[in-house]
Amino acid sequence: MGSQQIFPRFSGKSVLVTGAGTGFGAEIAFRAAQEGARVGVHYNRSKDGAEQTAARIREIGGAAFVVQADISSWDSIRQLADETFAHFGGLDVLVNNVGDVATEQMSWQELTRESLDRVIDVDVKGTLLMCHEFGRRMVEAGHGNIVNIGSTVVVRGSARAPQYAAAKYGLLGITKSYAAAFAPAVRVNTFAPGFMETGATLERSDWQGGRREKLLAATPLGRIPAPEVVAGTALFLATDDASHMTGAYLLADGGFNMVGA
Ligand SMILES: NC(=O)c1ccc[n+]([C@@H]2O[C@H](COP(=O)([O-])OP(=O)(O)OC[C@H]3O[C@@H](n4cnc5c(N)ncnc54)[C@H](OP(=O)(O)O)[C@@H]3O)[C@@H](O)[C@H]2O)c1
Repeated sequence: MGSQQIFPRFSGKSVLVTGAGTGFGAEIAFRAAQEGARVGVHYNRSKDGAEQTAARIREIGGAAFVVQADISSWDSIRQLADETFAHFGGLDVLVNNVGDVATEQMSWQELTRESLDRVIDVDVKGTLLMCHEFGRRMVEAGHGNIVNIGSTVVVRGSARAPQYAAAKYGLLGITKSYAAAFAPAVRVNTFAPGFMETGATLERSDWQGGRREKLLAATPLGRIPAPEVVAGTALFLATDDASHMTGAYLLADGGFNMVGA
């Protein structure tokens, strides 16, 4: 990937990335800045991580705005939307990357009420309300783009954490509903990455117990990428080259989930 070319697809645009203090969100935020965007770096608990993402952006001459919000709270989401729109004088792109993956759970048998509630509150209710509040403001402004970060669990489900698969399937309904509601001013799509080597993945105990090797063997492109490899693919959905895409989902998984026609 050393020779990858980066084009200024977001020159002059404002982009808010949620969960940008860690993993995939941090790389999407950095990539948006590399492509010319002014970037909102949202976090909930990872303040240091968010400051680090902002510092990386400023080091390359970009503009970063760090903002905190708990996405399981509607009030907190309203405040995040107000602060972001006030800061940038509007907003061109929202990337809803926040997602609780239930990383501590290794089997469906370990399901707890607490994890079920948290995953649904954050991934389903939180993402729905983010689309609702930000989309409403984008429609009023007459333009905007929303990218929801899904997962390839929408292809196969998850024997490990059914609540996570349920939440990501829920995201498809949220995406389609708001895509219909906000058309034609605002597009809404889902980006569904396969496994990536983010900190959250690397820390999982099954990852250290042979799962990585199994997945690699079943992936035609023969790698489990670092998140920066697919960050630009996620952002593609918010570019003009995707101007006829809305309510859709885009997979990027190295061919892992290829199915017959
Ligand atoms: N890694 C993979 O292999 C993979 C594969 C497919 C899809 N994905 C998706 O990619 C996204 C990022 O995953 P990741 O691997 O980077 O995992 P991660 O580091 O655990 O990221 C999760 C993010 O969600 C935020 N978050 C959790 N609860 C929140 C809440 N109540 N309010 C606000 N923010 C909250 C966290 O923010 P704080 O840390 O600031 O609290 C964190 O930045 C997720 O949507 C995940 O489903 C990942």
